[in-house]
Amino acid sequence: MALLELKSVGKNFGKLQAVSELDLSVDKGKIHSLIGPNGAGKTTVFNIITGVYPATHGRVIFNGNDITRLEPHKIAQRGIVRSFQQTFLFMFSTVLDNVLTGFHMNCRAGALKEFVHTPSARKIDREAKEQALQIIEFMGLGGLEYEMAGNLPHGHQRALGVSIALACNPALLLLDEPVTGMNPTETADMVERIRKIRDKGITIILVEHAMRVVMNVSDMITVLSYGQKIAEGLPDEIKENREVIEAYLGREEK
Ligand SMILES: Nc1ncnc2c1ncn2[C@@H]1O[C@H](COP(=O)(O)OP(=O)(O)OP(=O)(O)O)[C@@H](O)[C@H]1O
Ligand SMILES: [Mg+2]
Repeated sequence: MALLELKSVGKNFGKLQAVSELDLSVDKGKIHSLIGPNGAGKTTVFNIITGVYPATHGRVIFNGNDITRLEPHKIAQRGIVRSFQQTFLFMFSTVLDNVLTGFHMNCRAGALKEFVHTPSARKIDREAKEQALQIIEFMGLGGLEYEMAGNLPHGHQRALGVSIALACNPALLLLDEPVTGMNPTETADMVERIRKIRDKGITIILVEHAMRVVMNVSDMITVLSYGQKIAEGLPDEIKENREVIEAYLGREEK
């Protein structure tokens, strides 16, 4: 069943068609990767889905509802969350406090907020902390709860970005180049966690240039080039696709 559908979606920046006539169907519970050369429109697709740059044409359907024109915070409330990049971390706050901010953002878990001024506020705070600690452990940051985010090595900072997103209680998690700048061990750890997040029932759209990661972790792959879909299929199909090899894979490590 499709959790997210893009129907003939387009986005123009002035005369540039960053994305055009894109149809995309993302099945629930899957890791669906979006790949393609620099400037192909991958990040723009994320911006369209999250409402940052609403589509110029077409429709975005999530859980059967049209979300094309919703504001970003409304889209987040419905459960679409993008991982927060390094630049979004509060560098002078602890790992735990960073993850706790995830609970206080406009996400589905925002339900917690309704209780903040009631006698049960303390209980809610305790529960949020409890869950934050579980997420931190799950993302491999156990023992670093009280470390300042700015002191963490790069790989851990990216893991923290994903942790904050998880605190938003996503149904659909958008990951834009999650292993960039990671060493092989950190990359392997992240791949393992992406799989585990999927296994928890969270659907994932992954944008990533590291082909070893994409081919290893994806349930489905869509390839973009110059804003258009040029191929779609299982990893083995994409690896063999001549057009994809010419447009993209031929230039990358495989
Ligand atoms: N806010 C913007 N204003 C104008 N042009 C933009 C804007 N955002 C993206 N573009 C252009 O849209 C095209 C698609 O960019 P996008 O960032 O989506 O590519 P990408 O596939 O994510 O590339 P990369 O792999 O390098 O991250 C590019 O030509 C880019 O210059
Ligand atoms: Mg990009």
